[in-house]
Amino acid sequence: MLEKIEKLTAEIESLHASNADELEVLRIKYLSKKGEIPSLFNDFRNVPNEQKKEIGQKLNVLKTFATDKINALRAAFDEKKNDDDTIDLTRSSAPAPLGTRHPISLVREEIINIFARLGFTLAEGPEVEDDWHVFGAMNFADDHPARDMQDTFFIQRNPADVLLRTHTSSVQSRVMENSQPPIRIICPGRVYRNEAISYRAHCFFHQVEALYVDKNVSFTDLKQVLLYFAREMFGSETQIRLRPSYFPFTEPSAEMDISCNLCGGKGCAFCKGTGWVEILGCGMVDPNVLESCGIDSTQYTGYALGMGIERITNLKYRVKDLRMFSENDVRFLEEFESAH
Ligand code: DAH
Repeated sequence: MLEKIEKLTAEIESLHASNADELEVLRIKYLSKKGEIPSLFNDFRNVPNEQKKEIGQKLNVLKTFATDKINALRAAFDEKKNDDDTIDLTRSSAPAPLGTRHPISLVREEIINIFARLGFTLAEGPEVEDDWHVFGAMNFADDHPARDMQDTFFIQRNPADVLLRTHTSSVQSRVMENSQPPIRIICPGRVYRNEAISYRAHCFFHQVEALYVDKNVSFTDLKQVLLYFAREMFGSETQIRLRPSYFPFTEPSAEMDISCNLCGGKGCAFCKGTGWVEILGCGMVDPNVLESCGIDSTQYTGYALGMGIERITNLKYRVKDLRMFSENDVRFLEEFESAH
């Protein structure tokens, strides 16, 4: 018996297995119920009493030794297996999730692209402006209510007014001051108004302004561009309608409606049953504006138009609450992933 124990101890000491299956065969050979070590425990019954103590101890040591050895071999395999699973040096790194484009950016790009196809080039101006470029040059009377603190955020009142522009029309005056016709520009940008924030109004939002000044520019040209824009933006079935309106910087002035793109003009809750929704303001540039900016109004005429990007975005994507645009809630923003 002692010899057998010694022989097995030596065998187990030099055990090795090159894979998990081989190891299992060894485990069965030595440790399973009918394996070599348990059968030694069976034979233990026949050991003479005086040897029982010594042999019993040695048997226990052998069993622990074998169990530890097999477990150690298995642990080595598991470790190796884990290494194989997790470290693949040939594998490229996990892709970083792609961000999404903001709906306002998407629509702004779309508007710019439509006008770019008609030869309009991009122009930009500062958001922090002076009274002249926002109001004075744009033919606002000195007592025009838009100049009131109620509507405009002033940064400084004396010695000269410095304010946050309330519309992108200020870019018109800046460009006309610095260049002579032909002028054909499209100006996107952020504007600010002193409004209480709600689902339908915000203290900042985005506009796009278009301006064309040249010889013989007429209202017909304006109307054609408006129709082209409306159909490119909202589909070829779209109808437009111009309603007389008033802006200090255009004469005549109009507001443009498009046939409701939800009901196709039949009348629904969105267009309040009228079949039309308003999308922009426009008109022929007032000669006073041309003159204020150093352009000869006896030689040149022009048209201008301005629209809110949030409004166009609402029409395209039906965003009910304007505040969503500036809350940076990724659940909202991710919805626009596939838009372009
Ligand atoms: N500036 C106007 C506004 O903020 C929009 C506008 C109307 C711009 C008519 C124009 C225009 O260029 O011709 O409400």
